[in-house]
Amino acid sequence: MAGVIVLGVLVSGSGTNLQAILDAIRGQRLDARVAVVVSNVAGARALERARDAGVEAVVLDHNDFASRTDFDAAVVAILRARGVELVVLAGFMRLLTPALLDAFPMRIVNVHPALLPAFPGVAGQRQALAYGVRVTGCTVHFVDGGTDTGPIIAQASVPVLDTDDEAALTTRILAKEHELLPQVLQWFAEGRVAVQPREGARARVHVRPPVPEA
Ligand code: GAR
Repeated sequence: MAGVIVLGVLVSGSGTNLQAILDAIRGQRLDARVAVVVSNVAGARALERARDAGVEAVVLDHNDFASRTDFDAAVVAILRARGVELVVLAGFMRLLTPALLDAFPMRIVNVHPALLPAFPGVAGQRQALAYGVRVTGCTVHFVDGGTDTGPIIAQASVPVLDTDDEAALTTRILAKEHELLPQVLQWFAEGRVAVQPREGARARVHVRPPVPEA
């Protein structure tokens, strides 16, 4: 049985992943409510998408803060005030400090346009093309203090075609992100995501099977 999980979504750009979340909620494929969308970029298209869906949209310009920690503390205050249970980085192009990470331990997820640990950081698609891999994809992972280094929850692959330029590959990967991210969030809503710490090794994520309906 799924409960309704309360999401806070952090964005910086076009917000197509936010749209996929909103569409999945509307289509009853995701038992969630987006309580707030926070953008560090004032003109981000994602803000419009939030408002069009009747979701509160807040701009917090990181340039208005003396430090990364101060910015993250302001984000935490917004998320906490709205009862956010799970924080989703959907094209949020900022590294997080402990001020935010420690406020939501193992409750922050990110979507990245590559099969981590390959091609972390910015422009994962460009990195994949430059390297010449034949398969790439997207990853949903927990966020830790590193750059795209947290425990991996789910991945999906896409082929790299000989004809691909960065735009074509980006479009193909985004389509996968739009399937994978709402799916993973639904696993959280169903309480199926478990993290297994391991001595001397990276934590491993288990996704429990669904409980059969009575
Ligand atoms: C997505 O491809 C996402 O994976 C990427 O930014 C894009 C945001 O698109 N994120 C990163 O590269 C984070 N390292 P969107 O704003 O249309 O959802």
